[in-house]
Amino acid sequence: MVNYKMLQNVKVVNTDNLAETLLDILNTEGYKRPLFVMDGFLNTVETVVAAKQKLADNNIEYAVFDKIVPDPPAEVVDAGVKAFNDNNSDSIIAIGGGSSIDVARGINIVRVNGGNIRDYAGESREIAHTPGLIAVPTTSGTGSEMSNALVITNKETQQKIAILADNAVSEYAVLNPDLVLTLPKGMTIATGLDAFSHAAEGYLSNLATPMTDALCEKVMFLLYNYLPTAVHDGQNREARERVMVAASLAGWMLNNAGTNIGHSTAHILGSKYHIVHGEAVAYALPGVLELVGHAMPKKVREIGQILGATFPADATPEQIIEITVTSYKDFRDNVLGLHSFTDYEISSDEIVKNADEVLHERFAGNTPVDLTVDNVTAYLRKFGQQ
Ligand SMILES: NC(=O)c1ccc[n+]([C@@H]2O[C@H](COP(=O)([O-])OP(=O)(O)OC[C@H]3O[C@@H](n4cnc5c(N)ncnc54)[C@H](O)[C@@H]3O)[C@@H](O)[C@H]2O)c1
Ligand SMILES: [Fe+2]
Repeated sequence: MVNYKMLQNVKVVNTDNLAETLLDILNTEGYKRPLFVMDGFLNTVETVVAAKQKLADNNIEYAVFDKIVPDPPAEVVDAGVKAFNDNNSDSIIAIGGGSSIDVARGINIVRVNGGNIRDYAGESREIAHTPGLIAVPTTSGTGSEMSNALVITNKETQQKIAILADNAVSEYAVLNPDLVLTLPKGMTIATGLDAFSHAAEGYLSNLATPMTDALCEKVMFLLYNYLPTAVHDGQNREARERVMVAASLAGWMLNNAGTNIGHSTAHILGSKYHIVHGEAVAYALPGVLELVGHAMPKKVREIGQILGATFPADATPEQIIEITVTSYKDFRDNVLGLHSFTDYEISSDEIVKNADEVLHERFAGNTPVDLTVDNVTAYLRKFGQQ
């Protein structure tokens, strides 16, 4: 039996009126000077403009920091901390994808705990409870609105640094599926596959528990059944809502089961070769299934079943791996339509040079097999090739 504990410290609010809900939250919590953290595009979206107007009309003196870029470097967090302090802010409303919400979490950590966000890489530095983060996701992928993680890029080393902080989860996650209706097809595919990889890797993690397993199964089920409609009929609100719920539940799961070598691969390769995060984890997943298939054949089979595959009763681990990988690739490439990795024009010889870094990345230790340079090299050789 596995003994486990599972906390859910984020207050989740689903709303069709973002402006009203944000005002309610600020009034309930007594926040009077929020800092909006987002990118230039989201700052102009109608729902966001209406929310700012509503706050202004109600004497809330908000400020805006709209300098978020994808795969944000640590310097963006520095600039955000300065904006927070210059404006004498007392809370943060982060609106956007993982990049915006991660930076907002970084700003919140530093404004409460001091120092510089770079000081919090690794596990040594304590992070005190950091209230005041209201996260509004506009992609359905990272689950950052519910998770304890933030991922920033070190520009000098071209590496992504993952920081984990249970004390820095959002105070509120505000879900408004209308915000996701504008998400372009390519980003819907990539972010949806990111959420799928969270669930699949969390399911195949050393830290998995029966409760995280149940979440992972439901997240994969929802994505298998609703992500295709969200991709091909982006205005379908029901599909968008289901996919958003799946991504957020996966974010909560991440705090407990984490991810595995699939995300390590994305963190190392993503920042070095500028591979979109959700695409990187999707190109990695078939290799992850192969790598752990002998250690966890039952779970790999269950992933296959969720993906619509059937298995002979006496299927060997090799057959289970092959059938599940085929089903996943069909879902990824044919049903959703992820573009081919060859578009990035990066050779396998280049990819395998990163074996040592992938092996030592933070999440690799969650992988339920002994990792060596040899087996990680063999795994990387297949990255994006299948
Ligand atoms: N905190 C976590 O637990 C966690 C987990 C996985 C990944 N990440 C990190 O999150 C980042 C990726 O986040 P992401 O995939 O959400 O993308 P993102 O936040 O980088 O956004 C990508 C692009 O999509 C645009 N966009 C966002 N919402 C939109 C909308 N509704 N309509 C139109 N365009 C929209 C943004 O303007 C941006 O240009 C990476 O840095 C990754 O490493 C974090
Ligand atoms: Fe991810």
